[in-house]
Amino acid sequence: MTSFHEQRDVVLAVTGASGAAIGLAVLDLLCGLGMRVHLVVSQSGKRTLLHEVGADAHDRMLPKAYRSYDNGDIGATIASGSFPVAGMIVAPCSMKSLAAISTGLSTSLVARAADVQLKERRRLVLMTREAPLHLGHLRNMTSVTEMGAIVMPPVPAFYNRPQSVQEIVDHLARRAVDLLGLPVAPLASAWPGEADFDQPKTEIGSAPKSTA
Ligand SMILES: Cc1cc2nc3c(=O)[nH]c(=O)nc-3n(C[C@H](O)[C@H](O)[C@H](O)COP(=O)(O)O)c2cc1C
Repeated sequence: MTSFHEQRDVVLAVTGASGAAIGLAVLDLLCGLGMRVHLVVSQSGKRTLLHEVGADAHDRMLPKAYRSYDNGDIGATIASGSFPVAGMIVAPCSMKSLAAISTGLSTSLVARAADVQLKERRRLVLMTREAPLHLGHLRNMTSVTEMGAIVMPPVPAFYNRPQSVQEIVDHLARRAVDLLGLPVAPLASAWPGEADFDQPKTEIGSAPKSTA
């Protein structure tokens, strides 16, 4: 059995679905935990990073990663099950990448690395993002779930009364990292139960109350 010390490696893929900032937040969290992040950003992932985060977003990710790979590099270490990793997060995961993973069509490194997690029975967390969903999307989600992946769409938890988009992004990223099952304390704040829920001062849909 591989110890946590040996499993400091983890794969992070960013594909071309909306929500590129979540990939960035996941990278920061994993680095903060001392994990060695093996990063793959698809061509479309680079585009969404550019559109949604900024022109230098991809460049800012690269030095944080332990290693980064071209999505066409199917000879990379992470393309083999003999390379031990703690698991993989695809954040966000496009419907195209979901389809490739659900059918084992491993023509890209993202799809191949995900396939490896499934065959080695390791954690694979897919932050699948599209709306609305057609039956093919839903079937692909069912299929990857049957194979052992965890489908975690980036759907905000409104009961936390998030005050900013960044708060939503951070909470989703924490939930995704928690789902990897690393031997660390949970990162996402837990619902305290209705009895202990401290009602925020600001009502959703209303302007913040003036303090003047
Ligand atoms: C700005 C932008 C936003 C997109 N948002 C989504 C999305 O939310 N979900 C999705 O499945 N595809 C989305 N796409 C389309 C994918 O990027 C496209 O299908 C691509 O081929 C996915 O390739 P990849 O999985 O290799 O990254 C978006 C594309 C762009 C340019």
